Order: sequence, then structure tokens, then C-alpha cells
Amino acid sequence: MIVSSQILLKKAQEDHYAVGAFNTSDLEITKGIVAAAEEMNSPIILQTSEGEIKHAGMEIFFDSMKIFAEKSKAQINLNLDHGKSFEMCKWAVDNGYNSVMIDGSKMSLDENIELTKQVVDYAHERSVVVEGEIGLVPTPSKDENVRILKADPIECQKFIEKTGVDFLAVGIGNVHGENKGNPVLDFDRLKKIFQVVNIPLVLHGGSGISSEDIKKAISMGICKINVNTELRLAFAKALREILEDEDVIKPYDIMEPIDDVIKEVVRKKIEIFGSKNKI
Ligand code: 13P
Repeated sequence: MIVSSQILLKKAQEDHYAVGAFNTSDLEITKGIVAAAEEMNSPIILQTSEGEIKHAGMEIFFDSMKIFAEKSKAQINLNLDHGKSFEMCKWAVDNGYNSVMIDGSKMSLDENIELTKQVVDYAHERSVVVEGEIGLVPTPSKDENVRILKADPIECQKFIEKTGVDFLAVGIGNVHGENKGNPVLDFDRLKKIFQVVNIPLVLHGGSGISSEDIKKAISMGICKINVNTELRLAFAKALREILEDEDVIKPYDIMEPIDDVIKEVVRKKIEIFGSKNKI
């Protein structure tokens, strides 16, 4: 069933666990994520980035995700991840996403506030919640000059006051993508942010962070964790192995085992995030 992340994250915040936000761009990945959530009796967020939804086919793929969510026993919120413009977020709001993320983290604070406020005003009028970002969570494979810009607690406070955003993604040393070595999370900074911010906090770049650090971050106020790369790696590895056998040619013989591989990754994350049996 579809449940707003407003409800899911409020409960997570009160009960000290995190809801996993898993990216999808195709049917098999969606099936695996939803199956894991059902098996673990866990709330989840199913999300697409701009690139993913554009690849998968805007309206049609969104509709298929929505049907999966509506028919599922699990509680599922549909989120636009990393919306880069007001127009993209407006499209997502108009087409039925329950939440949108507007990512103005590469802008100046004032520009980020202006853009995020514009999205919040539009989305809130239509009962859709919004996630903003402060600090920069880079993607080393995409961002040429990798720089981690950590969130400043005072700026976080100002950003929330001025925009009315519902959830805040914070850069605290986390990075997107395949990590070469563990990212070093700045827990002192997270603690300071948590002291001045009372909305749910979000951790991007959930792949490759140790379970210990994930649990520590949750204990310090993180209640939504985004995971993408670990799903992609599992998907690609499984596909390569399956295709080694040249006699396997039926699309459903090739694709079906992928569901289980994705399901396993998501199950493990749900266990670590503490959201098992939280429906
Ligand atoms: P990873 O790809 O590092 O898991 O990050 C996912 C993410 O933050 C999506 O917004």
C-alpha cells in the first residue's frame, strides 16, 4: 500500500530506525525491492532519479511502480530522488509521486533556498512532501573535481526555516557510488546538526558504509537512508554470470534470478536499518 514518507519517517524518528530508500530503473529491480519489503514486513521508499525515470519511460514506468506499491502488503512511498529543477519536481508532483527531493546542493545557500522554497510551495499545496539537501554529497565517478562540502548546522537551521522543507539530506563526508574504502562520516557534525534540527535527517550514499557507522548515524537522527550502487553492482554481477551460459536465451530465464539477488541486498539493508517488522 502507498503510505506517505511523512508518516513513515515520523514513526522511524520516534522509534529510532531508518527507512531504506532504494533506487529502481527497471521491473526486476522493483520486484526484488518490493518482495524484500514484504518478506521483512518493512516500510520502504521506492525511488527513481531523473536519469532512471527518463530511461525507464516517465509515465509508463511510474505507473508500473505505483501499481506495485498499491498492491503490496508493505508500506511504500514513491519518491523522486535528486530532482534538479522545479520543472522536474513539478512533473513528479503532478504525476503522483508522494515525495520529491530537490537537490540544490551545488548552488549557493541563497539559490538553494530559493529553488527549494519554490518546490515546497508547489508540492505542499498538493500534499506532497519535500526533501532538500545541504552540504554536497559528490559522485566521484561523475563529479570531476570531487569535493565533499559538509553541512553547516546553522545553515541547516536557516534552510529549514526559510524553505519549510520536510526532510533534510546532510553531507557529512558521505559520497555516492562505489566507495574505494570506507567514507569517513563526521559524527560530531551530525550530532551538532541533530541538536538544532527537528525534522527527519537523510543519509545519501548508503552503499559501502559499514553497518557499524550506519547504526551510529541512525542513533544520531538519520531516519532515511538512500541505497543505489549496491543494487546496481549486484544486478550487473548476476547478469554477467547468467549470460556466461550462452544457452540461456529466454528473457525470463535471464532476468528472473535477478529478483532474488536484489531481494537479498535489500533484505540485508532492512536488517541493518532496523525497519524489519515496523509495519
Ligand atoms: P549510493 O549509490 O552510494 O548507494 O547512493 C544512493 C543515493 O544516495 C541515491 O540518492
